[in-house]
Amino acid sequence: MIKLTPSILSADFSRLGDQLKMLTQAGVDTVHLDVMDGHFVSNISIGLPAITSLRKNTDLVFDVHLMISNPKVYVKRFAEAGADIITFHVESCWSAADVLEVIDLIKQTGKRVGLTLKPNTMVRTVYEFVPHVDQVLIMSVNPGFGGQDFIKESLRRVQKLRNHANSIGVDLDIQIDGGITLSNIKDVLDAGVNIVVVGSAIFGEKDIRTATTNFMKILEEYQ
Ligand code: DX5
Ligand code: ZN
Repeated sequence: MIKLTPSILSADFSRLGDQLKMLTQAGVDTVHLDVMDGHFVSNISIGLPAITSLRKNTDLVFDVHLMISNPKVYVKRFAEAGADIITFHVESCWSAADVLEVIDLIKQTGKRVGLTLKPNTMVRTVYEFVPHVDQVLIMSVNPGFGGQDFIKESLRRVQKLRNHANSIGVDLDIQIDGGITLSNIKDVLDAGVNIVVVGSAIFGEKDIRTATTNFMKILEEYQ
């Protein structure tokens, strides 16, 4: 199943309710929410109160990407705020045991588990966790900011992860995030991605609904 999950990082936050409606009208059912703490990454975005209030206004599935230090302290609160999928960074953990503990904490909340890694972290770092998570997010830019250029090496990283998942018989959801446009989306699908995050190529456009529809059309043709 191939999916588009728009990231609201580049949205107009004063019109977020309306902008989410446009996504729904274009057929989107999941939205990507980027949480940055100014410590794990050098930027600050939205947090718990924003997610709590958005939850009251939409039925969209919330895919929460935590770019924060010490995720284990916060996962329960993000689940309570309305996250449906909680993705955390392997680099925010001290050890493999720590990663497994965060995975377990997310599972205890009943939410789906995502694990992600920065472009400079070796893909094999996450191999041992693949059987325990629902999705792995390959970051195709350095996390922290929208609107950056896609790092081409990410394609090879996706292929490696897809090959690994196949080799151990896991039907893994592989997500990609950063620098996705109408020009490179087919390349990431060819590499083995099935969940695509798109930020500025949707919210940076004047007509958000049409921009979303253009991505949805490509994904539908690809199914
Ligand atoms: C970057 C965020 C992304 C970002 C993607 O740290 O994780 O989700 O919003 O934005 P674009 O698509 O503009 O690279
Ligand atoms: Zn993200």
